[in-house]
Order: sequence, then C-alpha cells, then structure tokens
Amino acid sequence: MNIARYTVVIMLLSTARTLSYAQLGSAKTVRPVIHQVPAIQDAETTPQRDARMHWWREARFGMFIHWGLYSIPAGTWNGKQAPGIGEWIMNTESIPVAQYKALASQFNPTRFSAHDIVALAKSAGMKYIIITAKHHDGFAMFDSKANSFNIVDATPFHRDPIRDLAIECKKQGIKLGFYYSQDQDWTAPGGAAYKTGDHQPPTFHWDPAQNGSFDTYLQTKAIPQIKELLNNYGEFPAIVWFDTPTSEMTPARAAEIVTLLNQHPNLIWNNRLGGGYDGDTETPEQRIPPQGFPGRDWESCMTINDTWGYKSYDANFKSTETLLHNLIDIASKGGNYLLNIGPDSHGIVPGPEVQRLLAIGKWLSVNGKAIYGTGPTLFGAEAGAFSSTEKDENGKPVFVPSWSWRSTTAPGKIYIEIFQWPSGSFHLDTLPRKIISAYLLADKTRKPLPISSSATGIDIRLPARPVDPMATVVVLNTD
Ligand code: GLC
Repeated sequence: MNIARYTVVIMLLSTARTLSYAQLGSAKTVRPVIHQVPAIQDAETTPQRDARMHWWREARFGMFIHWGLYSIPAGTWNGKQAPGIGEWIMNTESIPVAQYKALASQFNPTRFSAHDIVALAKSAGMKYIIITAKHHDGFAMFDSKANSFNIVDATPFHRDPIRDLAIECKKQGIKLGFYYSQDQDWTAPGGAAYKTGDHQPPTFHWDPAQNGSFDTYLQTKAIPQIKELLNNYGEFPAIVWFDTPTSEMTPARAAEIVTLLNQHPNLIWNNRLGGGYDGDTETPEQRIPPQGFPGRDWESCMTINDTWGYKSYDANFKSTETLLHNLIDIASKGGNYLLNIGPDSHGIVPGPEVQRLLAIGKWLSVNGKAIYGTGPTLFGAEAGAFSSTEKDENGKPVFVPSWSWRSTTAPGKIYIEIFQWPSGSFHLDTLPRKIISAYLLADKTRKPLPISSSATGIDIRLPARPVDPMATVVVLNTD
C-alpha cells in the first residue's frame, strides 16, 4: 500500500481512524472496515494469519463446556420445569438477583475432576476445550479479584476449576479457551440482558437490582475479568469465545477490549465481540451452513441434547451416528465442530454425553486422518434440497443434503466417508483429481480396492459390508 493511496482513502473518509489494512491491501475495491483500534486481523498478512490459525484449523474438533450455578436448578424453578436452554433459567424464569446469587452458597461440585474432563476430551479426539468462565448470569467460574460473585469466594467449593483445567490441559496437551459473556450480565448492575418473556425495553431487566450504568459494569467487572482471564492462566487462553453482543457494545467499548486482546498475539477469538469486529471465526450455532463459510474460518457449535447448561430432565441426546456425521459433514465444508457437555451441580458429566464422545473418539482413533488437518471437499456443494417442513433457529428452511457420503481432502489424498454402504461398488462421476489407487482407511494392509473406469466416471469395488456402519472411509490416492 503506497502512502499516496492510503492518504487519499483517509481524505475520502475524512476520519482520522485506522483502516483495516487487510481490506486496503486487497486488489478489489472493498468497503474499508474502520476500527478505532485495529485488531490483529486488521493488520496481519495472510501468512501471519495462517500461522496463527494453523493449530485451530488442524484441530477440527473441540469440547464446549457450559457449567455454572444454573446446573443447580437444572431446568426446574419453583417446582416448575423451565422451557428453553438451562443456562438461561435466571432470565426465562425472571429470578430476582438476590435469589439467584443465593444459589452460590449451595454450589459445591466435589465430583468435578479436571483430569477426567480433559481425559474425556482427549479420548473423544477433541483438540481443544472452551469453558464458560462467566456466562450471562454473571457468575465467574474462576478466581476473580474483580468481583466476589465467583466460585472461589462465594461458594463452599473454594476452588478454581479453570485453574485446574489449565493445569490438566497443559499436562495432557490440549488447548484451553474461555467463553466470556462480555455484554449480558444479569446480576451485575448495568449488565445487558436479551429480552425473554414480558421483560420490557430499554433494558429488558426484571429486577431493579439489575439497573445501573453499562460503562460501570464494563469498567469494574467485564474488562477487569477479561484481563484476569488473559493473564492469570499461563499459556492459556488459546481462544476467547465472546457471546451475545448487544447495542451497548459500541465500537469504542469493543475497541477497549480489543486493546487487551492485541496484547496476546497468538490468541484466537470469535465473531461475537460486537462493535464491528469480525474476529477470527464464524460461529453458526446448532446448524451446519450448507456451503460452510468460504474464505472464513468457522466453527459450528452444538449441544448433544437440547441444552447447553445442564437440565436434569433433558434426555433428548442425539445419536452417536448423528454427531459423527455432523463432524464429518462440517470437516467436509472446512469447519470445526465445537460439541458441548453440560456437567451437573456435582461436576459430573452426564453419562449419555460421555458414552457418545467415547464412541466418536473410537472412530477417530481409526479414521482421524480423514478429519484432522484436512481440507474441504473437491466435489462442490452437495446435492440436496431445503426442507419444506424443518426450519432452523432463524426460521429458514433447513437444507437436507441428499448425499449418503462426504469427502475431505489432503495432499495426494481424497477421503470418501461413506454413510450408506452401496452394494457392489461406489461410483464417482466427477473426478477433481487423477485417481491412482484406492483402499480402506481402516485396512492397515492398504489392500488396493479394484477400480474400473467408464464413460461416466469410475467405480470402486467395495467389500460386501462396511468396516464401520456409521461411516467407513475409502482413501483415494491422487496425483
Ligand atoms: C447462545 C446462548 C448461550 C450459549 C451460546 C452457545 O448464545 O445464549 O447461552 O452459551 O448460544 O453458542
């Protein structure tokens, strides 16, 4: 970028603010993104970004942990089952601040084992963990000097599970990230609140104790706690996962947080800070975008049942096959899968969640090469149609893919993950690369599978039965 052009752009915009260099440097004309404080994504080159994102892109699979005071009511309040996701119970049930904060005196999750949770993530084949350090209820699951409403000061547990997890993740070789609700805080005066039920604008609060100045909340709680999380846990966090920005998160306020993030040049953070910052990763929730996000890193986060935070009666656990197919589908589109567990108030991970994660890990122990570090499919957008009945969380028709297989890629390899085993042979009518040979990834002898060519493509002769009925991987050696 020569200075003359830069100066001209500044004059055009007549605002003495930093432009996003990445946008300015690109050949095509782009709408310059104006950040009062340039984020790392604004200034770094593509090779610098590729280096910073490298481990994350290789990882493909992470563990989300939603754990906090909401695991005590566990979806029930005043004897009534509360609809919706468990971690929102304070909002959906309009629980007064004092009543909700009193839950802390009951929180003593002595069955929590950081070792076991990190070992579970590893056994599942997950490469990183993101835990709710502070969710919308404002309760800090870490030792915070900034605010005493935290697990060390306000509960009989008196331990910092985030510190325990940081020690175990370092020991077991897993990256650790922190979810932080920077904007919504339902127990701190001035914290924002998304509307539920009959809560009224402009604050959508339900208890006068919630009223106050957002700036006071930001300056006395959120920013000091973000500093604590960035500086008190050694090499971690590797990721900061912001959530639910509101209009309160203005560019100026967000810029103050970005100044802190910039002090950690290897940090990865998502697109939910607010204030006009896109961060590093798109975060589709409970869905898989049909074409992924070409040109952006992205991560689909999902629950195993229907709630992020523990609900005692939510037994609607997705099948292992569905969860595995989601992982494969997401990888075939170039994304990461952030799959959630919700420990109960004792610190125990629900059995059905453990069982599913171990089963996925078993599959990955045989077929991980088809997922970790792979690139997206070369076969284009898969066939399919938008459902005439199913809607996503935005009320849009859900895309129902019609393929019974997916594909991921690596140098010299095309992986075909077959969900529905064909009888006889597997046919490919488009060949994005020259196919040299084929074998089953689970076959340690790599016995070649017969390949026959025809005018309509190639046919790969398969054994009568799949190696794994959920998904069997055929490897194509390519030029
Ligand atoms: C939504 C929910 C929040 C949850 C998040 C996970 O933003 O508000 O409770 O933590 O999804 O992606």
